[in-house]
Amino acid sequence: MAEGGFDPCECICSHEHAMRRLINLLRQSQSYCTDTECLQELPGPGSPTGGDLTLPMIIMGWIVLALALFLLRPASMRRPGISNKPNSPFNMVQIKKICCIGAGYVGGPTCSVIASMCPEITVTVVDVNESRIKAWNSDTLPIYEPGLSEVVLSCRGRNLFFSTDIDSAIKEADLVFISVNTPTKTYGMGKGRAADLKFIEACARRIVEVSDGYKIVTEKSTVPVRAAESIRRIFDANTKPSLNLQVLSNPEFLAEGTAVKDLTEPDRVLIGGDETSEGQKAIRALCEVYEHWVPKSRIITTNTWSSELSKLAANAFLAQRISSINSISALCESTGADVEEVARAIGMDQRIGSKFLKASVDRDHWKKGDDQAAFYPHGDHP
Ligand SMILES: NC(=O)c1ccc[n+]([C@@H]2O[C@H](COP(=O)([O-])OP(=O)(O)OC[C@H]3O[C@@H](n4cnc5c(N)ncnc54)[C@H](O)[C@@H]3O)[C@@H](O)[C@H]2O)c1
Repeated sequence: MAEGGFDPCECICSHEHAMRRLINLLRQSQSYCTDTECLQELPGPGSPTGGDLTLPMIIMGWIVLALALFLLRPASMRRPGISNKPNSPFNMVQIKKICCIGAGYVGGPTCSVIASMCPEITVTVVDVNESRIKAWNSDTLPIYEPGLSEVVLSCRGRNLFFSTDIDSAIKEADLVFISVNTPTKTYGMGKGRAADLKFIEACARRIVEVSDGYKIVTEKSTVPVRAAESIRRIFDANTKPSLNLQVLSNPEFLAEGTAVKDLTEPDRVLIGGDETSEGQKAIRALCEVYEHWVPKSRIITTNTWSSELSKLAANAFLAQRISSINSISALCESTGADVEEVARAIGMDQRIGSKFLKASVDRDHWKKGDDQAAFYPHGDHP
């Protein structure tokens, strides 16, 4: 026992003796009245109520001071691309610049709609294909979609840019969409069946090579389940101390011919990410981009694998409907029924719905050897 200390185990002491020792001990603390009779608390330094609150009050003071300094720190001390929203003290990620790699049927229209809906966000769509980029910058866009040229004209040169300078766009972006093609493999394991991720992987290598600081990298392409793992593996193998890359999955559900409507009034937006706090922060940042025009109730957030699989499962369900109506079409031909009349009659049943009940020669949205194989990462499906 330290000198002058009070040891309750010294039970040989009388109660009175013990009390005296306790009072002596308390006297050593400047926080208490020296009147042995009253033991009343005196206000301690920095404490309006009592000395025993001094330490918590000091700690609270430091926390408040640290928080104030953190919030008021100059922009130069903040991580590039990240800023604190005025009302959110806990380092929310705010997307100011987006880069989309791949100026095709998905990347072009998707990013044009994002730019038109989010005038404060700068969107740069990049591609290795110079003629495609030239066309996006001309009066004759490389693809036709109803309403697309109006959307592009409303923001091109303002906050929407098309460029072949891929590295600069990646470097400057807070969020990078990977929206490149995922064709069927023509070599190696899964040849003729599995999706080829070589373009996605090339993008991942480019991103990690030219990036610094924090970035959200988002799969937009239709990929096999767990493709995000391959991207992360490339990031991890090439990481640098200054780098923090978060991977999200945000598959696109647009259909060619109705792309602008599908993008401006989507049935749902699906965003998948890590279940860690960093992952959730990245998901929130992307949600905020879509919330400019999509009701919150239509933005679904999941883990990464559910998001990747949901896109493939949606395509599979749509393909089943086309296969079903094609079978009915064959039956119509042999019975004299009209497939369009049958489709209308069954489609008005709300449990079935009217969409994707058009008989067609091929299985349109079920790109055999592409989406089908994508269920099986190694192309080993039956
Ligand atoms: N087309 C659709 O209706 C549709 C709908 C939903 C999802 N998807 C999926 O979206 C993805 C993209 O489809 P798309 O139709 O836009 O493809 P696309 O072929 O029209 O465009 C892909 C673009 O990516 C570019 N590219 C490839 N590798 C590159 C690299 N390393 N750096 C820069 N640019 C590169 C190509 O030059 C090309 O212009 C695919 O995975 C597809 O399955 C397509």
